[in-house]
Amino acid sequence: MAQLIDGKKISAQIKEELKEQTAQLKEAGIEGTLAVIQVGDDAASSVYVRNKKKACEYIGIHSKSYELPSETTQKELLKLIEDLNADDSVNGILVQLPVPAHIDEKTIINAISPDKDVDGFHPESVGSLTIGQPGFVSCTPAGIIELLKRSNVEMDGKNCVIVGRSNIVGKPMALLMLRENATVTVTHSHTKHLKEICRNADILIVAIGKKEFITGEYIKPGAVVIDVGIHRDENNKLSGDVKYEEAEPIASMITPVPGGVGPMTIAMLMHNCVEAMTR
Ligand code: GUN
Repeated sequence: MAQLIDGKKISAQIKEELKEQTAQLKEAGIEGTLAVIQVGDDAASSVYVRNKKKACEYIGIHSKSYELPSETTQKELLKLIEDLNADDSVNGILVQLPVPAHIDEKTIINAISPDKDVDGFHPESVGSLTIGQPGFVSCTPAGIIELLKRSNVEMDGKNCVIVGRSNIVGKPMALLMLRENATVTVTHSHTKHLKEICRNADILIVAIGKKEFITGEYIKPGAVVIDVGIHRDENNKLSGDVKYEEAEPIASMITPVPGGVGPMTIAMLMHNCVEAMTR
């Protein structure tokens, strides 16, 4: 039976630590503000944005909310980002993705000052991560490293297989795992013999966005399994990219869905906001 990696508990610990840090910073006269921009009213995005603002309030930083109509032009959005870049009272800027189809996501990400890029999506942030320079790290992969460290999972010299190569999770995850001295394999939709490769993983990180794709056959006995996926069925039941009932008896440690990786993303966003304040 696998040990549960409790993301809810670990994220709560991190938020407590950050709350203490912001209280100390406040005593030194330093306060932080995160600008959160949402274009349109995508329901899932609204939930994420609300949770991000709640987390800010909890840890003791201000949030400025910009809820823009879906007809907002790219030019208008760029102007807002430009103003926020120049506003010294704002430490972090977050544009909730996806943006409507008439707005180019890359152009928007590139417009955010790397000094305020608390999502860690700017090419400069990604480049810094690649060559081991200080910079903001994408929140979900950074959260996974925290989950592993705080669960005392040894990464040095271990075989880590990542399923998925997205810019937000798979690629930065590979770089972070390299930084921890793991031997890293990144797999994707064109990978041959995926099952065999996954069965070689000491640490298996799954971020492919396909419900319960990873069955027990993909898992080496005793592996640590991290499930980044989140899927909601017609009865509102949540499940991940990993078939939990099959994986759990085989793995040594596993993240549940919900309550695994999910809560870590916001905790690491708050971590980045506090880092932005102290820069
Ligand atoms: N949409 C889904 N996840 C994220 C995230 O981590 N940051 C932003 N900005 N948008 C998202």
